[in-house]
Amino acid sequence: MTMPDVLTFAKEWMERVLENGDTAVDATAGTGRDTLHLARCVGNSGSVFSFDIQAEALEQTKQRLEKHHLQERVFLLNTGHEHAAGQLPDEHRRNLKAAVFNLGYLPGGDKTVTTRTDTTIQAVSQLLNIIKPGGLLFVVVYPGHKEGRVEKDRLEDYAASLPQKEIQVLRYEFMNQVNHPPFLFIFEKR
Ligand SMILES: C[S@@+](CC[C@H](N)C(=O)[O-])C[C@H]1O[C@@H](n2cnc3c(N)ncnc32)[C@H](O)[C@@H]1O
Repeated sequence: MTMPDVLTFAKEWMERVLENGDTAVDATAGTGRDTLHLARCVGNSGSVFSFDIQAEALEQTKQRLEKHHLQERVFLLNTGHEHAAGQLPDEHRRNLKAAVFNLGYLPGGDKTVTTRTDTTIQAVSQLLNIIKPGGLLFVVVYPGHKEGRVEKDRLEDYAASLPQKEIQVLRYEFMNQVNHPPFLFIFEKR
């Protein structure tokens, strides 16, 4: 047995935390891999709200979902995740159990369109406010590019500043990999 890579580790915890009927948010839909996984985890009576600022990303996500016949339980929203908490209908705000951020740029897309530190922190903070106790918020950070390094520094400060009685933060990271590998924060609402 080997230790799971960052994305696999995150997916395993999404499976653990989500149950049939839950609501989940994919804050960075991209190619739709995380949305697809969340859609499976919330079951046939759950819902996923997926955000991306690029229509191209949402189209890829839509196609991936259709291929697996899971599009019915997913709402695709072409707007920034800094608006995510406000965009959820009330019953889904109350039912939110997991949110996922996979930072950086669209794989195979325009590398200049990337997540930005200010809006990332804004969105994480707003979603942490509404997520249910016991819910998990995942952030995969890519410190190998310029904006990613800024996001890393600011997210570290932000995570360390949270009151531990309200939010626990786990960091999952391989320390000796070359080329600035991605790492994961998991925020647990208590
Ligand atoms: C690394 S990709 C996500 C990968 C995706 N989770 C997957 O499974 O393929 C990051 C995505 O975040 C999107 N993005 C950038 N800023 C955003 C924002 N403010 N709100 C929502 N999405 C944003 C980009 O357009 C890009 O598609």
